[in-house]
Amino acid sequence: MTIDTKFWAVVPAAGVGKRMNADRPKQYLELADKAVIEHTLLRLLSADVFSAIAVAISKEDPYWPELEVSLHEKIITADGGKERSDSVLSALKSIRALASDDDWVLVHDAARPCITATDIKLLINTLRDDDVGGILALSSHDTLKDVQGTFIRGTLDRSHIWRALTPQMFKYGSLKNALEIAEGNPAITDEASALELQGLQPKIVEGRPDNIKITRPEDLALAQFYMEHQND
Ligand code: CTP
Ligand code: MG
Repeated sequence: MTIDTKFWAVVPAAGVGKRMNADRPKQYLELADKAVIEHTLLRLLSADVFSAIAVAISKEDPYWPELEVSLHEKIITADGGKERSDSVLSALKSIRALASDDDWVLVHDAARPCITATDIKLLINTLRDDDVGGILALSSHDTLKDVQGTFIRGTLDRSHIWRALTPQMFKYGSLKNALEIAEGNPAITDEASALELQGLQPKIVEGRPDNIKITRPEDLALAQFYMEHQND
């Protein structure tokens, strides 16, 4: 890695939050006196490692311009896309003139407001000299079943199974290229899967269990609990 390699953050925030079933997209629900996405972005900013943060926002989104953080000098607003991967690609394109192919990009869900500087720095410090990059991940505590309908077909070997979290950290050039090649492929549900399709092997770095994604209504209370108990 050259001495002037930069780090960029990309935050997909153009989802509608269907599973949350609320009156607005989940990134704008209130959590500990702020919108979920404000926590996410303030935490990324306070890690103090990113040259800028590109945020993908839906064109029909009336909430984003109302937030003070949208005017922050390190925040760049890009258009969202149909799927999460389209939003990530759009945000990558918005920093094309600023980023070098060899710079690192950390993609982080807007819906993960409990991200800590500890985890961001762990990911960066573990992978900064790596050729491919990788993701924060968690092992599964529960026994995992392979199920058809309601019938159990078998039990999976848990030792090989990890849950993919974000941030996911890859080189600007290879991530953009992988997402462009994979465009429209429904199997691409995170950045790592786009690189895997290229035959590359991203690594996992064990993350903290408090880095939850707000998905269903009960997750808001859990996120609030974690926030109150985090002190790093
Ligand atoms: N996202 C995005 N563009 C999309 C879809 C999702 O930027 N077209 C973002 C979401 O805003 C979220 C992240 O990707 O920050 C993770 O996606 P997910 O948790 O699935 O959020 P939603 O798609 O909004 O929720 P749901 O699937 O329940 O509708
Ligand atoms: Mg979704």
